[in-house]
Amino acid sequence: RLPSFNARQAVSPISKEEKEVPDLDWDNLGFAIVPTDYMYVMKSSHGGDFSNGELQRFGNIELSPSAGVLNYGQGLFEGLKAYRKEDGSILLFRPEENALRMRSGAERMCMPSPTVDQFVEAVKATVAANKRWVPPSGKGSLYIRPLLMGSGAVLGLAPSPEYTFLIYVSPVGNYFKEGIAPINLVIEHELHRATPGGTGGVKTIGNYAAVLKAQSAAKAKGYSDILYLDCVHKKYLEEVSSCNIFVVKGNVISTPAIKGTILPGITRKSIIDVARSLGYEVEERFVAVDELLEADEVFCTGTAVVVSPVGSVTYLGKRTSYGDGVGVVSQQLYSVLTRLQMGLIEDKMNWTVSL
Ligand code: COI
Repeated sequence: RLPSFNARQAVSPISKEEKEVPDLDWDNLGFAIVPTDYMYVMKSSHGGDFSNGELQRFGNIELSPSAGVLNYGQGLFEGLKAYRKEDGSILLFRPEENALRMRSGAERMCMPSPTVDQFVEAVKATVAANKRWVPPSGKGSLYIRPLLMGSGAVLGLAPSPEYTFLIYVSPVGNYFKEGIAPINLVIEHELHRATPGGTGGVKTIGNYAAVLKAQSAAKAKGYSDILYLDCVHKKYLEEVSSCNIFVVKGNVISTPAIKGTILPGITRKSIIDVARSLGYEVEERFVAVDELLEADEVFCTGTAVVVSPVGSVTYLGKRTSYGDGVGVVSQQLYSVLTRLQMGLIEDKMNWTVSL
């Protein structure tokens, strides 16, 4: 049954096949698009409010060749996950945080955005309509990708006259091909991801296109991804292409402070709170690249990567390694966070939302 929330009945009835558990290799889910049954679409015209959201069959969308998003990159995205509990019910992790981040990003990108309630209800409706694609408990999660884009036609550089909010979903497992094994990062010295006063602190689509060149070159050399330095001093850690970074030394866990060039990750924020609740001291500050040499452990956080241990960082040709396996602190934080997300431990923070 489709959820009743402000979502008009999808165009065609659910077929017999769509009631069944999909024939997927649930034990080997990576991070790649799997087409599901429905997507959610809601529009806003002339900078106004969003209304009349509806579930539609998942599929291609029609856009004017002069849509603002295609010509001038006026677009944002979000990422969050739904987990299946052992009893079969479904939990979302902090969806209102994604709604708030989309709203602040939209303000920077000169776009209207759905209210927090509209966003959260739309996420719930989309997950409910695609329930059969939420992996069995412990096998992965349903990645939820909300988009906000200038869909109206423009020619001169200006905000778009129409906006589309769209949500699609895909079942996923581990983000990196390494799985939960440590990843190998290389520090990029010439190309930068973000500049002061720019858009590094919001989840605009252009930030991700801008890292592809350095990331492809790094992957061709066998690295998992790039770690960026600040573009002014070329000295302080910023973030990895798709996730935030943490450095562990003894009982102190340090991470670059949010200062406009770093994405305010929801997993980053959650891990800071989890680590403090476990007795670690967490510092949000400028973290110099030299501190990597002295670190006991390094790990990344993000919705897609969850908590990903770093096995080595290469900087100006010199490789610093952090042991063979997953570090104790990374393992502990990964375990507490994912158990919380899957409803396996008490959610004292009130972060999970039942569908
Ligand atoms: C996420 O972690 O959800 C992101 O948005 C990063 C993306 C590159 C997969």
